[in-house]
Amino acid sequence: MSPYTPCLFYGLLDTTNIRFSSTLFIFFSILLLIATIFFFYAKQKTQINKKTKQLSLPPGPKAWPMVGNLPEVLQNKPTFRWIHKFMEEMNAEITCLRLGNVHVIPVTSPEIGLEFLRKQDSIFSSRPFNIGADLTSGGYLTTALVPLGEQWKKMKKILVSELLSPKKHRWLHGKRAGEADHLVHYVYNQCMNSMTGGLVNVRIAAQHYCGNVIRKMIFNKRFFGEGMADGGPGVEEEEQVEALFTILAYLNSFSVSDYIPWLRRLDLDGHEKIVTKAVASVRKYNDPEIDERIHQWMNGAKKEQEDLLDVLITLKDKNGNPLLSVEEIKAQIVDIMIATVDNPSNAVEWAIAEMINQPVMFQKAIEELESVVGKKRLVQESDLSQLNYVKACAREAFRLHPVGPFNIPHVSISDTTVAGYFIPKGSHILLSRQGIGRNPKIWEEPLKFKPERHLKDDGSDVVLDEPNLHLFSFSTGRRGCPGVTLGSAMTTMLLARLLQGFTWSLPPTMSSINLTESVGGLSLEKPLLALARPRLAENLYTSP
Ligand code: HEM
Ligand SMILES: *[C@@H]1O[C@H](CO)[C@@H](O)[C@H](O)[C@H]1NC(C)=O
Repeated sequence: MSPYTPCLFYGLLDTTNIRFSSTLFIFFSILLLIATIFFFYAKQKTQINKKTKQLSLPPGPKAWPMVGNLPEVLQNKPTFRWIHKFMEEMNAEITCLRLGNVHVIPVTSPEIGLEFLRKQDSIFSSRPFNIGADLTSGGYLTTALVPLGEQWKKMKKILVSELLSPKKHRWLHGKRAGEADHLVHYVYNQCMNSMTGGLVNVRIAAQHYCGNVIRKMIFNKRFFGEGMADGGPGVEEEEQVEALFTILAYLNSFSVSDYIPWLRRLDLDGHEKIVTKAVASVRKYNDPEIDERIHQWMNGAKKEQEDLLDVLITLKDKNGNPLLSVEEIKAQIVDIMIATVDNPSNAVEWAIAEMINQPVMFQKAIEELESVVGKKRLVQESDLSQLNYVKACAREAFRLHPVGPFNIPHVSISDTTVAGYFIPKGSHILLSRQGIGRNPKIWEEPLKFKPERHLKDDGSDVVLDEPNLHLFSFSTGRRGCPGVTLGSAMTTMLLARLLQGFTWSLPPTMSSINLTESVGGLSLEKPLLALARPRLAENLYTSP
């Protein structure tokens, strides 16, 4: 007991009558409140207990009172490796941790995954409230990180029907094609640079291709400033893309204060500070562009839509007023940028790394590209449907090397039963991209990179989408990715251009690419450095 406590009581009692009675009133009110909370808490508990008599939660590690499994989470970093390890040891495809008072439910089986995302989609379509989501989405104004409700509905509808529709996709084709040309131009310049001996940082090339495509589609520009002479990113783009990846790394990263909200004020692990800074770095470049463009539309300097920002600004509600506020536009653009940069670049970096170690795959891809495209022109989006082997390589990269261990969490809005287990309202469902893609019940030799496994006997189209969740690319259901067409085009084009334009090999001092994953995530531990030599006529590499 604190030494000050007796004084406090003394002070309480040593008062005039009136002050005493009012203090006492407050005192008893608080007591009553606590008692009421206790009563309801106990009642709720017995209700859960009644249900759990028939049905239990999925199996999992024993939870401590109050904090649940948070002590283990703090002891076993990175958390996702610990979770997958104990699931393997338990031989479980669904498990349950309790973090604070949140039930967190990782799943590694496609069938159980589909129970959540297809059969009971309407119950499991919300998202968690947490620091990263809050800061990134400008206070839940956007799509991907926003809990179920009117705001999510409004923004998702805009994405699906106004920004990512087939019509808009065709409309923006020229911008994507320009960035695909710019990609080979930039890599070519690195090949020709005698200072670097033809060594190319594939991660940088891939991430900036994605950043450039989405910037061009939204702002109709590749660079905020001048860019580099060789076509590489300028300091502005470097800062922005790095910040986007920082945000991604800290979203849903098992921060303790995401599960015990009153800890947020203390920012014990510093996440809030890091994400705040990263969001500011992204918006520092975007927001002035957005303000300026809104101004242009208002003063009549701008009359025709040229990019997605114009579309967002000119959307009208049924009374003819702007449909989106300035804050909504700014936040939604951050959301779109995050959604676009990581998946295609990570998959292609891994695919090239795996292929360098098994060069026979390069031969097959090149044979396909020679027969579909030839050597006289660069591969175009209209060729992609015929490039089944190239797409199989990308698809295999999504299967074996997903960008992150888990899907964005799905949160349940009522109690229910899944796979014979009780799943309480408010649970966070974490579909494991890694666990599903490497599930030995689904895939033979799951840890081997084998693109052939995706080729169909009848030669029919290979696609990157997998609604049956045998691997985890774009997910499925009402929270599924609205960017399947754009994401597939970007991923396939990035890989196809790198394969058609260049011969890839090991840096001189290496005998193979070290395919070790990073400790804290699933990316390659070190950015892929590889030797590239041009394989087409010089004039094909000049950028417009
Ligand atoms: C290869 C590229 C991409 C992959 C693999 C991918 C994958 C995913 C996945 C797994 C989800 C979560 C689905 C779920 O919660 O069940 C998602 C959501 C989302 N993606 Fe993509 N994505 C890609 C590209 C894009 C692009 C280019 C956009 C364009 C704007 C985009 C926009 C979104 C949005 C807005 C959501 C949130 C949907 C919602 O919460 O309702 N994605 N994506
Ligand atoms: C690959 O990298 C990891 C981590 O840096 C290291 O432990 C391992 O020995 C490396 N493997 C080879 C074959 O060099």
